[in-house]
Amino acid sequence: MISIIGSGRVGSATAFLAASNSLDDIHLINRHKEKALGQALDISNAIPENSSITIVGSDYSEIKNSEVIVISASTGTYTANRVELLSEQSKMIKDIAKQIKHFASNSKVLIISNPVDVLTYLFLKESGLPRERVMGMASSLDSSRFRYLIARELDTNQSEIKNALVLGEHGDSMVPIFSLAKWKGKPILDIFDEEQIHKIKGDLIFYWKILREYKGPSVFGIAKNTFDIIKAIINNEKISVPVSVLLNGEYGISDVSLGIPTQINKTGISKIEEINLDKSELDLLHKSADTIKEYINSC
Ligand code: 2OP
Repeated sequence: MISIIGSGRVGSATAFLAASNSLDDIHLINRHKEKALGQALDISNAIPENSSITIVGSDYSEIKNSEVIVISASTGTYTANRVELLSEQSKMIKDIAKQIKHFASNSKVLIISNPVDVLTYLFLKESGLPRERVMGMASSLDSSRFRYLIARELDTNQSEIKNALVLGEHGDSMVPIFSLAKWKGKPILDIFDEEQIHKIKGDLIFYWKILREYKGPSVFGIAKNTFDIIKAIINNEKISVPVSVLLNGEYGISDVSLGIPTQINKTGISKIEEINLDKSELDLLHKSADTIKEYINSC
């Protein structure tokens, strides 16, 4: 069973993907229950004719058997940066953590709500769940964006770009790993000049704001990246994907959650991958960790 806490744009788009792909039964939870009921009524019509799965508007007392819980709830909208609602979101995630600790402490939890790295850390501390079963979503989204921006700069297809990886904070201190990215086997660093690299870094960090200028908050990229992880857990398919995870010394970083390469399967995070980063990238990753710690300490 999949429970999704927050039936807004992202939560409902994620539910739509899970339902239309017959992944598993879905419970939608929302602070305004009628919103969850309405989304369930709508998405029920996207369930394939031969599928036995169901989607319902629900509440915390019904999430007991959740294999996966997605948290996409938000206390409001933010425009300047992802930490604008830090105080309200921190309280919200602690309240949600208490509910999950009580009703579904065996589930795997995917956190989308921002600021995701801080909220992942706070959720872990409040819920007592093991770090392997709690992951923050968004480094995979940032990596998808990095791949898109490289392909656009090369005027080529995204499928030709490999190892486009973004680590660290899902925020202004995120770290695109240019040293690993390749186009048709050729290192991107051998193709792009400093100006192109600088442009891609800026477009990557401000991607979410550019989206908002055109259409409003992002929805489909984060929903699909979240769906891919839910699917891997439900179907026990091993995937390699960067997520925000609590570090205990890996990469020389401890006691903070940030985007790191991992392997995911039915158990949640089955492995934290320690890949070779060049010194400048590792330094930036440490700076990103320090940025997130500052936010955590300000809660
Ligand atoms: C995004 O990156 C706002 O975190 C959201 O689109």
